[in-house]
Amino acid sequence: MEAFTKRTYSRKEFLSFLGKASMAVVIPPFLNRCGNTATVLTPEVLSSEVINFLKGIKLKEIAASDKDDLLLSEGMDYYPVIKWGTSINDVDRFGFNCDFTCFIPLDEANPEDGLLWVNHEYIDSLFVSNYNYRDPAQIRTKVQVDSEMYNVGGSIVRIRKEDGQWKLVENDPYNRRITAKTPIPFNWDVAIKGSSMAIGTLGNCSGGITPWNTFLTCEENYDGFYGETIYDENNVASKMPSKYYGWDSFYDYPPEHYGWVVEIDPKTGSAQKHVALGRFAHECCTLYQLDDNRIVAYTGDDRNDEHMYKFVSSKPNSLKEGTLYVADTIQGKWLALDWERQPLLQKRFKDQTEVMIRAREAAAILGATPLNRPEDIEIDPITGHVLVSLTNNKYKGDYHGSILKIEEKNGAYDALKFTASTYLAGGEAHGFSCPDNLAFDLAGNLWMTTDMSGSAMNQPSGPYMPYKNNSLFVIPRFGDDAGKVIRVATAPRDAEFTGPWFAPDGKTLFLSVQHPGEQTSDLQHPTSLWPFDDDQIPKPTVVAIHGDLIYKMNNLHRLQ
Ligand code: FEO
Ligand code: CA
Ligand code: CA
Repeated sequence: MEAFTKRTYSRKEFLSFLGKASMAVVIPPFLNRCGNTATVLTPEVLSSEVINFLKGIKLKEIAASDKDDLLLSEGMDYYPVIKWGTSINDVDRFGFNCDFTCFIPLDEANPEDGLLWVNHEYIDSLFVSNYNYRDPAQIRTKVQVDSEMYNVGGSIVRIRKEDGQWKLVENDPYNRRITAKTPIPFNWDVAIKGSSMAIGTLGNCSGGITPWNTFLTCEENYDGFYGETIYDENNVASKMPSKYYGWDSFYDYPPEHYGWVVEIDPKTGSAQKHVALGRFAHECCTLYQLDDNRIVAYTGDDRNDEHMYKFVSSKPNSLKEGTLYVADTIQGKWLALDWERQPLLQKRFKDQTEVMIRAREAAAILGATPLNRPEDIEIDPITGHVLVSLTNNKYKGDYHGSILKIEEKNGAYDALKFTASTYLAGGEAHGFSCPDNLAFDLAGNLWMTTDMSGSAMNQPSGPYMPYKNNSLFVIPRFGDDAGKVIRVATAPRDAEFTGPWFAPDGKTLFLSVQHPGEQTSDLQHPTSLWPFDDDQIPKPTVVAIHGDLIYKMNNLHRLQ
């Protein structure tokens, strides 16, 4: 068992992590990788001088908006970094529906030049392949499916700051695409549905970063692409066809090859699917490295009444050797999805591999607690609490969701017991609905994006009307506004903000603008025109948000 590290940092180290990386001191692990952080910010680190500065920041909330635009609070501005369709080299283009972003500097001494990973979660076929499912006369072709397969997965692009702005380094040798056609091996000793290799990755929603500087990308709603294998009460399997995209009409890839956490090497692009983390609609994967270098990985299954999991490795820096647990949040117990130790699992599944493939069923058999769509998970860098977005569960009457707080017993991330409570509830009292992505900044303020669905937003008689377009909120840590939920950005029409990630210099918040104009049924009349470029169609785009407010919230202003 290991407690939340109460390491203290010297003043010099603290200054270093706040942006003066050129000073010759050791930067503590994770401190230059915010957005999905396990950074430990102790009260000793946050001196009274620093806290007083943070207390003095005045945030100006912006009103909810239904405008087709990206609107920001005073003190923040934005520019596009890369849009759907942008050429990244002679052969490749940036994919559709950008989600999780993660920036890793090529050289830690220069935080203004590095590799940005971006997930491409799913496609809108109307824009990507010109297939309109609303028209019953249309039949999807293989050519269309192939272009859809190209537009999911992820992108690695080199970006660097020039004249104060992050710019794509076009044709950089590191620029590459990972798509639904990229062969990806399983990190497992047994074949998965007859193969040691999957073709492609898809449904890439949120993700994470490893302490050894690789990207994690999570396969979420995989059943929309190749369907799912389902089992009846007699344990007899049948194939449920693809829910949305019908790729299984052209490619006979097993559903079991999707629904995993995938690790990507930034420099080589080599990828692997981590079977030990289980198979379900992974929203994210947030890692904590224990003092003995064993890894704890938290990950949620974003579907109504599904579960929250954590993997604890038995070997240093392994995402293969260890135990996957699922949460019983009522009794505060982590239940081991371990075939050897669980007779109930032995009754239903033939071995551990099957338990991992059918992790949802295994979790339910063990009595895991159904949750209201567990999405993003972050570790609070000051309290050490694990925060989990529960987006909503409309069928249970939970329209606005909440953030769940997990406190591991004695602060030990590998503990088998914990307490769970509501950290923050969505709804009128706090002015937000449907929390999704979370990110702590360099000073420990919490940033949160919302995910009200495009079809439900701005419906006059619906529950989401007061909230208008999806938004970005910040929950300040210090000062008069501490704990308040303050709207600081609103998204273009039909869009959702995703993938918040702070650049290591604390001066930029990378943010994806996903599915603007998603309610479009006729390309001639799109419901959004953002980002307002010459093509006159909406485009999923990664933006850089910058300005005085970002700078101050990350506590850099005073230190320059
Ligand atoms: Fe793709 Fe759960 O959001
Ligand atoms: Ca999400
Ligand atoms: Ca979501």
